[in-house]
Amino acid sequence: MFQELNSLNPDAILGLMVKFRADPSSTKVDLGVGVFRDLSGNTPILECVRRAEQAVLAAQLTKSYVSAAGREEFNSAVESLVLGDAHVARRERRTRTVQAPGGCGALRVGAELIRAAAPHATVYVSDPTWGNHVPLLGSSGLRLERYPYYDPATHELRFGAMMERLEGATAGDVVLLHACCHNPTGADLDGEQWHSLIELLLRRRLVPFLDLAYQGFGDDLTTDVAGVRLVAEKLPEVLIATSYSKNLGLYRERVGALTVVAATASRSDAAHSHALQIARSIYSMPPDHGAAIAAHILADPALRESWVLELAAMRERIKDMRVLLAQHLRQATGNDAFDFIRSQRGMFSLLGVSSATVDRLRDKHHIYMTSDSRMNLAGIMPHNVAFVAEAIAAERSAAGE
Ligand SMILES: Cc1ncc(COP(=O)(O)O)c(C=O)c1O
Repeated sequence: MFQELNSLNPDAILGLMVKFRADPSSTKVDLGVGVFRDLSGNTPILECVRRAEQAVLAAQLTKSYVSAAGREEFNSAVESLVLGDAHVARRERRTRTVQAPGGCGALRVGAELIRAAAPHATVYVSDPTWGNHVPLLGSSGLRLERYPYYDPATHELRFGAMMERLEGATAGDVVLLHACCHNPTGADLDGEQWHSLIELLLRRRLVPFLDLAYQGFGDDLTTDVAGVRLVAEKLPEVLIATSYSKNLGLYRERVGALTVVAATASRSDAAHSHALQIARSIYSMPPDHGAAIAAHILADPALRESWVLELAAMRERIKDMRVLLAQHLRQATGNDAFDFIRSQRGMFSLLGVSSATVDRLRDKHHIYMTSDSRMNLAGIMPHNVAFVAEAIAAERSAAGE
């Protein structure tokens, strides 16, 4: 059976992780994989997670199945966190949520749901976008197209071109949007752009699919979902994939959810029944442990308070590194070409250098980033920021970029 199979290249990001681990250099810097790192370079277990985990284990009486939808209290806590308690779509019972194995699981269930409801719909994804979006959505069999989003050379959004492209989409097509902290660019829509986009989506009868993997990494838990809330208020149908890998640091526990907003309560119930059948046919039920921890934190005022503070500390650490790296790049290059890093949001920015320069940064300086020159700012430390800035400046000028 397997004689005809050739070996595939490893996934770009996972392949980079393997190379980094194998590099014996003592000064190596990992700006590749998208995980938060503290000042010691660790990806810590949050204190609120440790405490909630103990409480969850102490109270647990069985390991029996939960359900294809996962934990009900988790699902309703997700809706409160993302949409707020008083959101009109929730008041009208037009929202239903299923727990999923991480944001990836939620995106995949969402893609299968689109395929079940509208098999001929095209899904528009941003150019550039996170490397796993195309495999995750494309392997459901849906047709994918790109819309212009960001110019890595000028470090600016291509909002006009994005709107022009979406004007040409067909009614019923789906637009995948990063809710905040765009991966890989760190460039988000502002309030006015969200309004213009919503007007276009409504007029062209397009369906937004929001990917929310970094709630709390931009400004705070509420400001970061202003766009999501507005979209779900103005549009009759919305899909929202949520991930708790980053903001609760629950990466390997696989905690996420898919929320569906439909035009009426009964349509949202119907969509929900399909989401359950899809889940059942892929993985049957989502893992429970991480969702139990998340639900416990969100329901316990003291733990929630502690989470908000720990999340703010992660966010501030990344913001500090943005400021520091931009400062050091100014010194090293003698110009302000990299000042954009300071004001972008979330974990990532695109450096905007060629893949050959990315290779030299890795081979000569042991600085690892993905070939599109995406940097995870949480991989920068105060002790290595000057080294990173000088290496970037040197390799960029050697290449005449
Ligand atoms: C934009 C985006 N969406 C979704 C995810 C899904 O994350 P996970 O499946 O680990 O929860 C990620 C993780 O890197 C991401 O960057």
